[in-house]
Amino acid sequence: MFDKIASRYEGTNRILSLGFDRRWRRRAADRLCPRPGALYLDVGCGAGDMCIEILRKAPGCRVVGIDPSEGMLAVGRAKVRAAGVSDAVSLLPGDVLNLQFPDNSFDGAITAFCIRNVTDRLMGLREINRVLRPGGSLVTLELTDPVGLMKPLFRLYSNMVIPLVTKVMSCVSAYRYLTDSMADFPQADRFVTVMQDAGFADAEYFRMTGGIVTIFHGQKPV
Ligand SMILES: C[S@@+](CC[C@H](N)C(=O)[O-])C[C@H]1O[C@@H](n2cnc3c(N)ncnc32)[C@H](O)[C@@H]1O
Repeated sequence: MFDKIASRYEGTNRILSLGFDRRWRRRAADRLCPRPGALYLDVGCGAGDMCIEILRKAPGCRVVGIDPSEGMLAVGRAKVRAAGVSDAVSLLPGDVLNLQFPDNSFDGAITAFCIRNVTDRLMGLREINRVLRPGGSLVTLELTDPVGLMKPLFRLYSNMVIPLVTKVMSCVSAYRYLTDSMADFPQADRFVTVMQDAGFADAEYFRMTGGIVTIFHGQKPV
């Protein structure tokens, strides 16, 4: 599915999120606290925006992005080249359920709008935990069920605006999947428990924009 929408992914997201997606990624990258000289993993890197954001925060670090979609990786590689950061960012085919890296390889890891799509989230989080160095952080940015006033507003938005925009952008089924997968994603408290079960300590979360997105954070114990 992501191969099919790769070329329209960024534009559609920008429109659907009213430009908020950039701010959400920036906040998630802040939470990772990247530092020069360190090595980070971006799981489900897609078109590479988060990799570039991490590098912007900490010039001199290195980022490896993995994604099973060759179409998304191709868009990402072009973007990385255009940003002039090919020496610091590598985008590789990969699956969070079976990461190709040895234990304790990365200083930190991030996933943005990815873990919702993973069939076995506990297994995926365990794999991320395995490849993190002790003390390394995982930051997960994910679309979640809105709270309070945002709940009815978002329902209206997803019933009226999303179908219209996705029709114009010719990706109706992909974005119907988006609202279905949002409904399928566990509540924030429950996802924190899954992070703990996967071996993350001090797991916590921060809602943004009325809970439409949530940043989850946890650490591999030292
Ligand atoms: C909604 S896109 C998000 C892309 C990017 N992280 C961003 O911020 O725009 C979700 C990505 O997760 C990837 N994905 C889905 N299943 C995955 C898996 N098992 N392992 C790694 N990535 C996966 C998809 O191929 C897709 O590129």
